[in-house]
Amino acid sequence: MGVSLIMGHEFKLVMLVALMVSSTYVYGVGNFNNDFESTFGGERVKISGPGNSDLALTLDKYSGSGFRSKRDYLYGRLDMQMKFVDDNSAGTVTTLYLTSDQSTGRHDEIDFEFLGNVSGQPYTIHTNVFSQGQGSREQQFHLWFDPSKAFHTYSIVWNPKLIMFLVDETPLRVYRNYENHGIISFPKNQPQKIHASLWNADDWATQGGLVKTDWSKAPFTAYYRNFNIDTSPNGQWRNHDLNANSRRRLRWVQKNYMVYNYCTDWKRFSQSFPPECKHAKFN
Ligand SMILES: *[C@@H]1O[C@H](CO)[C@@H](O)[C@H](O)[C@H]1NC(C)=O
Repeated sequence: MGVSLIMGHEFKLVMLVALMVSSTYVYGVGNFNNDFESTFGGERVKISGPGNSDLALTLDKYSGSGFRSKRDYLYGRLDMQMKFVDDNSAGTVTTLYLTSDQSTGRHDEIDFEFLGNVSGQPYTIHTNVFSQGQGSREQQFHLWFDPSKAFHTYSIVWNPKLIMFLVDETPLRVYRNYENHGIISFPKNQPQKIHASLWNADDWATQGGLVKTDWSKAPFTAYYRNFNIDTSPNGQWRNHDLNANSRRRLRWVQKNYMVYNYCTDWKRFSQSFPPECKHAKFN
């Protein structure tokens, strides 16, 4: 082994440099035990890995499972590496979302939901934003890769100007704060907790509930790891917005991978579209 050639101090120095480099550049080293607690599913929530950086959720016939942050957040950036249920995942839904206290009836919520599919067919990424209890702002996408084969990074940036959904730094969706235009529909004063779950939704998830969960493949597992939550006041997330390059990526996704957009659903909003829709083209 090459390592045995480097002895004593030299070896320690190499290790020290390696450690410094990794603690500077390795992104997302969050500890699931410190920052999260399980919400349901008992033993089906499993934390592992060095520094408790890995978490697996399972779903079987009897229950799904989930977890949430101990803290509340008002603005910030969340990054989570995730890998979804593979093979026949039809009927399963994996989530990563933020929500304020739902018992108020006027809650805010920012949703990423990943709807499984039969083997070989694409996952659907479902996004939504609730403000003051009002949702119905769905956009759905397919992906340019199979999200059950490898970990990818799913991010939510939430600052006073916008909410941005990203996959591996490519923006899928930008939901802007249009209060300057008199549109009051932006989550801005209710702190939210981060939630994640894996559950069975075969009554609606896959092709409108036509395809049922194949329980012979259970238990189903979804993986989360290396999360990063940036709420630092000087963090880059505070001014995060589109630039020329990411705007081009956003257009590419919306042109090629968007499968549903509430702002173009004429049947549903035949009377009038939600007010933010007419501004959304200025993304
Ligand atoms: C499943 O695959 C079908 C066929 O490719 C596709 O139309 C659908 O959007 C996919 N996703 C879900 C959740 O059904």
